Amino acid sequence: MRIAELDTPALLIDLDVMERNLTRVAEYAREHKLRLRPHIKTHKIPALARRQLELGAAGLTAAKTTEAEVMLAAEPPDMLLAYPVIGARKTERLANLARRTKVTVALDSEEAAQEVSRAAVAGDVEIGVLAETDVGLGRVGIPPEEVVRLAECIGRLPGLRYEGLTFYPGHVKSMDENGLAALRTVDETVSACVKDLERAGLAPRIVSGGSTPALFHSHLVSAMNEIRPGTYIFNDRNTFACGACDWEDCAVSILATVVSTSVRNQMIIDGGSKTFSQDRLPTGGEGFGRVMEEPEAVFTRMNEEHGFVDLSRASRTFKVGEQARVIPNHVCVAVNLHEQVYGVRGDRVEEIWRVEARGKLQ
Ligand SMILES: Cc1ncc(COP(=O)(O)O)c(C=O)c1O
Repeated sequence: MRIAELDTPALLIDLDVMERNLTRVAEYAREHKLRLRPHIKTHKIPALARRQLELGAAGLTAAKTTEAEVMLAAEPPDMLLAYPVIGARKTERLANLARRTKVTVALDSEEAAQEVSRAAVAGDVEIGVLAETDVGLGRVGIPPEEVVRLAECIGRLPGLRYEGLTFYPGHVKSMDENGLAALRTVDETVSACVKDLERAGLAPRIVSGGSTPALFHSHLVSAMNEIRPGTYIFNDRNTFACGACDWEDCAVSILATVVSTSVRNQMIIDGGSKTFSQDRLPTGGEGFGRVMEEPEAVFTRMNEEHGFVDLSRASRTFKVGEQARVIPNHVCVAVNLHEQVYGVRGDRVEEIWRVEARGKLQ
């Protein structure tokens, strides 16, 4: 089938670009002796997780226990839940997962550690735990000076296997002077934590971090030995805006059809918030995506089914029925909105993948 024959809106993955992205990061990780445990939040597709493992990933990362269950189809030797698993239903699921593969969870409180410990004992399994510290994002993670206390608690609880330290440098968005300075602070914070843990006899086996914007600078965080990037498989307009990729590294685009040009200097495409997600660029900048056919077109706003594209700066016009491809701002949320995605090469559709872990919220 050809791309032009697809019904729209349709999420396309350029297979050559994806493969290049995967290979580049696998090589970078090997070169810097970093364990790679990619986050599946971006693709949510077991076949792509399998490809990441084939290229040398040591395991996978997921946020939710239900996502992790879906990813068992990729046969990961090791699964990290990089999100606090709170509540009896979830910890029971976690224990069940631990019967099927090696499982580790990131957590940042003694309460969470106790809950996971209870479920591990009840399920007669062992669950790995990483103590999570905050390196500047201000989301989850205890302050660095409290890491030893949490690690000691983890070490004492039955059913838990203390594995080390984790953090997420999601506040480091660019690799300009400011971004590099922020990364240096992350490096210092993580090194200090590791030294504290070593002094307390709790040397971490795993020090897990990493994100796509700072991906190729991961080696600058000297104590980190594992990275878990997600977005790198496809990249998106946000990755470009961070300066972390070029447009030709963006494997994702959403194919849409022009359904109206009634308003002067504007076209309406057949995808809005149900297709693209309403994420803005965290780095600032207008619009909800890049129209590949006309970079001066601005995707200014959206309703559920309508995408408003301002063409007043554009050097070309579009006709009703024409197709356009838009690189979304935030690919992870966009993929979650689609039942299936299409792997394309040139103008041909070569793969159709169901987004099996979409909507897995628990
Ligand atoms: C805890 C955690 N680890 C890793 C990632 C992957 O980050 P990125 O998609 O920037 O590679 C995320 C993304 O949200 C995350 O929340």
